[in-house]
Amino acid sequence: MAKAVKRDLIDAASPGEGPKNCRRCDLWKRATQAVPGEGPRHSTIMLVGEQPGDEEDRRGHPFVGPAGRVLDECLASARLERGQLFVTNAVKHFKWEPRGKRRLHKKPTVGEIHACNLWLEQEIAAVKPMVIVALGATALRALTGANLSIDGARQRELWHPGGARILSTYHPSAVLRAEGDRILELREHLEHDLRNAAKIAAGALV
Ligand code: URA
Repeated sequence: MAKAVKRDLIDAASPGEGPKNCRRCDLWKRATQAVPGEGPRHSTIMLVGEQPGDEEDRRGHPFVGPAGRVLDECLASARLERGQLFVTNAVKHFKWEPRGKRRLHKKPTVGEIHACNLWLEQEIAAVKPMVIVALGATALRALTGANLSIDGARQRELWHPGGARILSTYHPSAVLRAEGDRILELREHLEHDLRNAAKIAAGALV
């Protein structure tokens, strides 16, 4: 089911091409595969993360690792069904550096975000969401072209040129990395922002 949706989207977005064969930057060389977005073609809400992690790179699906588990818990708390959302990333290949036997996530550069923007914009054009949730600063940069902090952007009304409202919130990995009281604080912000996304998509909040 998910595969059919994905193929439908990618074929419609870029006949004969797609992020799977992308060579627009060098990240493909060390990644197992490109991980395109997934979800129903006309989802009203799109979630945009940074890039696939280690597990996503191996399995070929977005947000299926530890950050995905935090995301799923926050979605459940916001009463959102993941199966009704389109979930994707700003960058489609996993960028990493070796650390012993582990592959450690490395933040994509502005050039890599820019190179990958074609695929994200094609997904947005195909899905036409009402609300796009930027999970973290990389997604926000990909969506706005600006270097905004999540703290600042959460207070601002932002729009994508295609007409979708952009909501900014913390990346689930920030919850995983946080310590002490900050863990609960970030999780509550994330849940609150996801609830607002649901309200905007339902027309209950402007
Ligand atoms: N982090 C992301 O930003 N995206 C994923 O798909 C997984 C982890």
